[in-house]
Formats: sequence, structure tokens, C-alpha cells
Amino acid sequence: MTTLIKNGTLITASETFQADILIENETISLVGKNLTHPNAEVIDAGGKLIMPGGIDPHTHFDLPMFGTVSSDDHYTGHKAAAFGGTTTVMDFVVLEAPSPRGRGQGEGDFKYSTDLWLEKAAKAAIDYSFHMNLNRFDDKLAKELPSLMEMGIQTLKVFTAYNGKLRLDDGGIFRALRLAKENGMLMMAHCENGDVIEQLIPEALAAGHTSPEWHALTRPGWGAVETTLRMAAMAEQADSPVYIVHMNIGGEVDMLKYARERGVKVMGETCPPYLFFSIEELRRPDGAKWICSPPMRSKEDNARLWQGLHENTLQTVGTDHCPFFYDGTKPIIYEGKEIAIPGKELGAKDFTKIPNGLPGVQDRLPVMWTHGVRTGQITPNQFVAYMSTNPAKIFGLYPRKGALVPGADADVVIWDPEKRVKYGVAHSHQRMDYSLYEGWELVGYPEKVFLRGKLIVDGEKWLGKSGDGKYLKRGMGEVL
Ligand code: URP
Ligand code: ZN
Ligand code: ZN
Repeated sequence: MTTLIKNGTLITASETFQADILIENETISLVGKNLTHPNAEVIDAGGKLIMPGGIDPHTHFDLPMFGTVSSDDHYTGHKAAAFGGTTTVMDFVVLEAPSPRGRGQGEGDFKYSTDLWLEKAAKAAIDYSFHMNLNRFDDKLAKELPSLMEMGIQTLKVFTAYNGKLRLDDGGIFRALRLAKENGMLMMAHCENGDVIEQLIPEALAAGHTSPEWHALTRPGWGAVETTLRMAAMAEQADSPVYIVHMNIGGEVDMLKYARERGVKVMGETCPPYLFFSIEELRRPDGAKWICSPPMRSKEDNARLWQGLHENTLQTVGTDHCPFFYDGTKPIIYEGKEIAIPGKELGAKDFTKIPNGLPGVQDRLPVMWTHGVRTGQITPNQFVAYMSTNPAKIFGLYPRKGALVPGADADVVIWDPEKRVKYGVAHSHQRMDYSLYEGWELVGYPEKVFLRGKLIVDGEKWLGKSGDGKYLKRGMGEVL
């Protein structure tokens, strides 16, 4: 398969220039002016922008939570991602509880859990890789860490909240940080103060506060701020890099800046909902739609997070895509079939029972283009850096992914900067009954999306299929 994309404007993380791109089989073979090829299918991209496929560093497909499961699986979520211009996703493996042996001779717990996730992801429609949730840690797991690198997983996520479930104490985090460094791995951190949250939730419930806004009121922003600084301090003390996921409050950006200015190897990711929404959304009658952890904060925090992108304090924009139906008792039609999955209605009488997480894997590029690039908050090159190139570099995929250079995988998006879309659930391929951006007028949208040289999205046409996605083993990444 040979494709020649002509007359487009290439946007990379550092440059904007006119060039043609020749794709042969799965890779980009040439980038230059006036390219020709005798057998290529030629696509005229005049007036269009060409970018590397989006890389979403943070998704949760088919994730069991609160007695239900996130509503997109590794096919529907991938398809939705592709329609939004994303061609690679990174999902989190849940580390299973230790179990008596019998999982195969010498097989470790990391391998067992990763194999389960690989089975679920066999239906992948775009390329994917995994992070490992380090939701427990002991001597046995410490010994098994090198096996993760062999499986191509160089990232460990730790939690400072969800006491008794996912949380590691600071000693465990510090120990894991040192071992991560020894093994060439990167730690990712979910920053909230679990102890304060565990005090506030029962108090709120005892006082009869059961509505969604109490989700935010029992997870104070200062907890995220001090924990971000604490993680940076531990990163410095262990001389091991840390990547703070889903940064949600202005103070976290300030802490990141403070630490980075002092040479600490700490990086940060934010997610679109934290740039657009606040606790006010949780006060709406349908406030449960905005429940995720960490929660929405204030308009001032939205502004500081945008500033963090503008000034390059942050490194990436991920989605933390973890969708749950608003009303999982009512089926929707997805690919011609009825489906209903229990969702946010589980917490109709108690905010602590609302599954935590939001949809967004399709929305990321289009909403960030309209409200980031078109408003001048970030440049088109920063857009490519945050959406694709920086995740590829940090997570050990560059320049195979995230780059428009000869030899790179031909994950290419032809972007129509003038296309207007009235966005919402009707337009979305996320397996969901709501969109956070219902009715938003978006300007700028993917026209064609290629995955390793194969056209998988052509306007509104889906040409991809289950099984097309490849598992990506990752190596050591860069600290940006
Ligand atoms: O509410 C969220 N974000 N759910 C997904 C799990 C996580 O902590 O990222
Ligand atoms: Zn998290
Ligand atoms: Zn997450």
C-alpha cells in the first residue's frame, strides 16, 4: 500500500512547513517537496494540516469499578479515539490481588495481570501499550520489576488516595521510586490526600450530604497541591523521575513549576475537563456526569491550567477516559446493537457510589484545537507536542510514534482546520449516553486518519477493525 499526501501543511512539535508525505506499507518513507511515485494513491491535502496521530497517555477501557465496568472496551474506545485523531492509547493494567501459586510455573503477578489485560485488548483497533498500577507493593513485586520492562511496560502508577484499596504509603512510594530508577522506569502519580478524604467522606454522609458536589467537597484541592509537591520532593530525594497524572488545580501547576525550576525531574499531565469545567457542573441536576477523581475545581483553576500549557510548565494532555453511562438502565444503540451498562445512576442517592470517571478519548484533539489553538492559548506546535510528540518521548515510543519523519510509523492525521462540527453524543463514537461537550460548536476536525499506513477514518466512515491494533512494547523514555 503506497499513499502520497500532497500539498498539506505539516505541523510538528517544533515546526510548520509545506511538504508532501510518502507512505509505503506501514511507515513514512519520505517527507519533502514535489514528491512523486508511480503507483501511489495520491491525496490532495491542499488547505489541510498534517499531524502525527494523537497519543493518549491515559485511558481506562473495560475497567471494573464500583460493581460495574467502564463502558468503552478496547474496541469501542479505540474506534472513538481514531475518530478524534488519536492512533495510540496507553491503558492501565490493574494489578490483581496476590493469589496462591498455580498461575503457571514461575509466572509473576505482573505477568499474570498483564496477560489478562492483553486478552481484553486483543480486540484493539489502534495501537496500544500499558502502564502498570502499583496498587500494592512488597518484596516479591520488587523482585519482579524487571519482568515489566521485558513486557515493554516502563511505567508504574502509584496512588496517594483510596486508602486500603489502591494507596501506597510514602515509604512504599519512595522504595518503588528508587527501584524504578534502578530499572530505568518512570513513576506516575495520582495525587490526593487519602487520609483527609477518608475523614471527610463519613462526616459528609453523616450530615446527610449525598449529592454530587460533595464528591468535590470531600476531596480538597489542597490535598492535590501538597501531594504534588510531596511527590516532587520524593522524586528529588530518590533521584528518580515522576509524572503527575490528571493535574486538576492551579496550585499543582505552581508546585510543578517550583520543582522544575529547581531541576527536579517531575512532569505533568492535565486532561480537558479540568480546563473547561468546575464544581459548578457538579451542582447541576445531572452533576453526576462530571464525577471523576480528582474532582473538578474552580474557574480560576481552569485558567491556571491553561496558563501552565501556554508557558510549557505541563508536558502532556491525556484524557483519563473512563466513561460510565449517566443512566445505565436505558440501552443505547452501538453498531446496531442495544447495550446498557450500569453507570452513574448507581450513586443516585449517595455520591460515594457514583463510578468515578469521564468520557473523552474522542473529544481531546477537537476540543483542544477549538478552545486552545483557535483562542491562542497554545500554538499549533504546542498542540502537537502535548497531544502526540511529548507522550511519545516520555513513554519511550519516539520517533516511531509522534513524529512525521522517514522511518516513523505512518500514523497520520489530515486535519481540516475549518471544519465546523456541532458536537455531542450523536456525533460521538464513544459507547456512551452523554457527552461533556453536548452542543459545543467545534471548529477544526480530523478529515482522514491513518494507522500505520492504513486509512481507518475517512470523514464519517469507519474503515478500521477489531484486531488491527498492535501492542507496543516500550523502552526507556525521556525526561522532558
Ligand atoms: O475518576 C477517575 N479518574 N477514574 C479513573 C481512575 C484514575 O484515578 O485515574
Ligand atoms: Zn488516577
Ligand atoms: Zn486514570
